[in-house]
Amino acid sequence: MLKIALIGSTGMLGIDVNSALKGVNFLIKNYNSNNLDIADPQAVNASVNGFKPDYIINCAAYTNVDGAEAEKEKADAVNNIGVQNLAEAALNTGSRIIHISTDYVFDGSKRTPYTEDDEPNPINEYGLSKLRGEEALKNSGASYIILRTSWLYGKNGKNFVNTILKLADSRKKIEVVDDQFGSPTYTKDVAYAISEIIIKDNSKNEIYHLTNEGYTSWYKFAVEIMNVFKRTNCEIIPVSSDKSVRPAKRPVYSVMDNSKIKEDYNIELRPWKDALKKYCNDIGYFII
Ligand SMILES: NC(=O)c1ccc[n+]([C@@H]2O[C@H](COP(=O)([O-])OP(=O)(O)OC[C@H]3O[C@@H](n4cnc5c(N)ncnc54)[C@H](OP(=O)(O)O)[C@@H]3O)[C@@H](O)[C@H]2O)c1
Repeated sequence: MLKIALIGSTGMLGIDVNSALKGVNFLIKNYNSNNLDIADPQAVNASVNGFKPDYIINCAAYTNVDGAEAEKEKADAVNNIGVQNLAEAALNTGSRIIHISTDYVFDGSKRTPYTEDDEPNPINEYGLSKLRGEEALKNSGASYIILRTSWLYGKNGKNFVNTILKLADSRKKIEVVDDQFGSPTYTKDVAYAISEIIIKDNSKNEIYHLTNEGYTSWYKFAVEIMNVFKRTNCEIIPVSSDKSVRPAKRPVYSVMDNSKIKEDYNIELRPWKDALKKYCNDIGYFII
């Protein structure tokens, strides 16, 4: 039976990865910041050496994009040093790492979908720390797959869908930016893809882009959320990003081309609107 160390098992994606893997015959050991600080090299070594997993799936990260501007050392400790520690431990045990990264490694200056061959150029501290983590893993000598995903939402975390639904229940109007474009992605779909990758693994060291198909703006995403979740008492107002100043800059366009993972693994996630409907079916119309 394959042994899997799931790092970040209590996070929004990690919880869904755990559920997806439970459906397959794997021996899973869960880690989160309560039982393992990935920024601590000795602790990582001891955990990985003690379990000797076939795969390490790293869903752990410092994910507060705005917070990272003021806490760049903290973001780097998890998103870069943490990945470096996992990679070094994986090299010793011969474990293969499946590491999750982000569309925010790109600067957003393109107007056609980013491929894995496009040069990253992060414009915020979070993106920079994630890119350093990718580089550390690639240069470590450990066996790896890096999956870059984007605009994640799922049942078990703070995310745009849940925020819009909560605001819609207490406000008459919500202003949402209409000039940033990306691909909303359901955590359950990414989790399913991860289990498929393990089953079909071709053992190559690669970066893959992995999002639900299609793209939209945050404004149009919010409008679709209102439609799918049948909220009629609140209006979504489009605004430009200049009206919503935040500590971290966001790429205006971070749509990614998913054709490489389709070619290598025959994995294609459903269109983002279908995924949102599935999310609604999975959780019901109301967020608590
Ligand atoms: N959210 C998005 O929109 C988005 C978009 C693109 C890519 N991503 C990437 O997708 C991945 C999953 O994101 P997510 O939204 O599911 O994250 P999340 O909900 O914030 O969960 C992060 C997880 O990391 C763990 N963690 C944090 N610091 C740690 C440390 N020092 N040692 C060990 N574990 C630590 C947390 O454990 P505790 O719960 O114990 O703190 C939690 O389980 C990340 O790599 C993220 O960069 C996210």
